[in-house]
Amino acid sequence: MLLRLLKDLISSRKAPVERDILRRASELRNQSLHDEAIEMLTSLLEQNSDCVPALMLRGVAKREAGRLREAMADFARAEDLDPDDPHCLCELAAGWYALGNHRLALEYCERGRRIAPDSTMLFALLAQIKLGGEFYMEVLARILDQVKPRTYVEIGVFRGDSLRLAKPPTLAIGIDPEPQLTAPLAENHKVFAETSDAFFAGRDLRAELGGRPVDVAFIDGMHNFEFALRDFANLERHCARDSIILIHDCYPLDQESAGRAPRIVNWSGDIWRLIVLLKKYRPDLSINIIGTPPTGLGLVRNLDPNSHFLLEHYERLCEEFLALDYSYLDEDMPGKLNLFPNEWEKIRMLLG
Ligand SMILES: C[S@@+](CC[C@H](N)C(=O)[O-])C[C@H]1O[C@@H](n2cnc3c(N)ncnc32)[C@H](O)[C@@H]1O
Repeated sequence: MLLRLLKDLISSRKAPVERDILRRASELRNQSLHDEAIEMLTSLLEQNSDCVPALMLRGVAKREAGRLREAMADFARAEDLDPDDPHCLCELAAGWYALGNHRLALEYCERGRRIAPDSTMLFALLAQIKLGGEFYMEVLARILDQVKPRTYVEIGVFRGDSLRLAKPPTLAIGIDPEPQLTAPLAENHKVFAETSDAFFAGRDLRAELGGRPVDVAFIDGMHNFEFALRDFANLERHCARDSIILIHDCYPLDQESAGRAPRIVNWSGDIWRLIVLLKKYRPDLSINIIGTPPTGLGLVRNLDPNSHFLLEHYERLCEEFLALDYSYLDEDMPGKLNLFPNEWEKIRMLLG
């Protein structure tokens, strides 16, 4: 008992000193004075080898100084002491990914996500490990640049980042009930602040496009399957056979992010069901899911504006595909969702 009290007293005296050293080492690291930070943390660890924040900070400083293998030793020791620290698991996942061990990287990432499902770092890393290559936004920019569509329709605008990729003379229409544009609209852009269902029920898209069909559309609105199904069917009516419908978030990373309840972060929803449906009931379509991080970009062609199948059988299709369990994807997900390599030269060939 006395010994314990004595230990507590010593560590409570040590704590402010440790905090001060950690703060100063962190400042040195922020100034890119990595060697100095590492030296300071090493002396601290000589006094207290179990100090997890010091191990983590020294690991990060070593990683930033290009000493990844040494950094991994610090992260591994920190993990031994605190196996549930998501920051540590994230560093280990990123480290193993950089060292080429994707199996271990995935293991650490999945462990981290179980503890911190809202960590955007872990989600981004998981996407990079599972898919890799250019982010969907870069691939979308390339597609628009290559196709140079006369018209572009986007469902789900948010801050306008993807809409802004449609450059003049493309006439671009965005639809979003709550757009949060971060910059004024360009002359070629028009945003309708309403849901896609309200838009299609109350307006004539072709008239809004000056009598032209949709050349390229991008579905990135509500992430529940039945919304995306309606968006697809409503857009297809206004397409030509060689138009392109792009569908975001149709290659889920895990069951956690593929749930139906709307979430603010890391949510791709159950759009994957739409791909399974289209493959089964619309074999006339050409469907490829480009493996872009974070959660894939569907590219659908050979559209048929005269097909009424999806809307005519809407209720039955919802019933059938909402009953499909996520475990359907357990075996051969790339095959079931027509995964296509995220390599620009190959994607370019798809565009014709
Ligand atoms: C993921 S964000 C879109 C991101 C944007 N496309 C980008 O890449 O920068 C999804 C957007 O869909 C919008 N949304 C939600 N329900 C919708 C609906 N029923 N119709 C159209 N947009 C909807 C949300 O308001 C949100 O801004």
